[in-house]
Amino acid sequence: MMRRKLVAGNWKMNGDRASLAELDAIAAAAQAAPQVDVGVAVPFTLIAAAADRVPTLSIGAEDVHEADHGAHTGCVSAPMVREAGARFAIVGHSERRADQHETSHDAWAKAAAAHRAGLSVILCCGETEAERNADRAERIVQAQIEKSVPDDADGSWLTLAYEPRWAIGTGRTPTPEDIAAIHAIARAKLRMLIGDRADGVRILYGGSVTGANAASILALENVDGALVGGASLTAAKFVPIIEGAAGL
Ligand code: PGA
Repeated sequence: MMRRKLVAGNWKMNGDRASLAELDAIAAAAQAAPQVDVGVAVPFTLIAAAADRVPTLSIGAEDVHEADHGAHTGCVSAPMVREAGARFAIVGHSERRADQHETSHDAWAKAAAAHRAGLSVILCCGETEAERNADRAERIVQAQIEKSVPDDADGSWLTLAYEPRWAIGTGRTPTPEDIAAIHAIARAKLRMLIGDRADGVRILYGGSVTGANAASILALENVDGALVGGASLTAAKFVPIIEGAAGL
């Protein structure tokens, strides 16, 4: 099955109103590459301004709460970010697993909440360096997928992102063989869980993706796009990744 490539940025806890100017050139590059889907997840404080500024670009949230509303001081729900203009949400990012002690079960509940609110979801998984060194990467990713993918998932709203934690922000990436191996295992696991619908679910690679390595990573089998942190903060670094995906 042909899956459209998706290049998604994740600004993490970076950016202010002045940074939104970067989105102008990113939106222009996205429009020049209609065969590729492009999105940028920004901090909650910037979602509305970003969505107003570049209506053609898909703006996302970096997290959502699992409840739609309620007594959860400091949290932000999926309907709230949807109303602010977000079209997708990232859930289960490894930085939230590490810093906020989120589990795969939390990621499952957040994915379901985002879907209820009409958002698309980028659901993250990936092993630590210790787990990879212990030869447990495949089992860890399989277990994360099993615990976090909702039963009713399909490619119309769910995207998976494989992000080995040791490759995030480090400039290190797995070998092409290792990326392809995990993506194949992730696809097989999805098939076990949701049957043929797995074929429509995109699986992104994330972790130190740059303009220099994007095209070769995105050409791998079962790699349907990229989730990009550091290199999504400026148009100068992000646009070559979009162009790399478009050239495939
Ligand atoms: P990085 O981050 O591109 O800066 O490695 C990727 C991510 O955390 O999504």
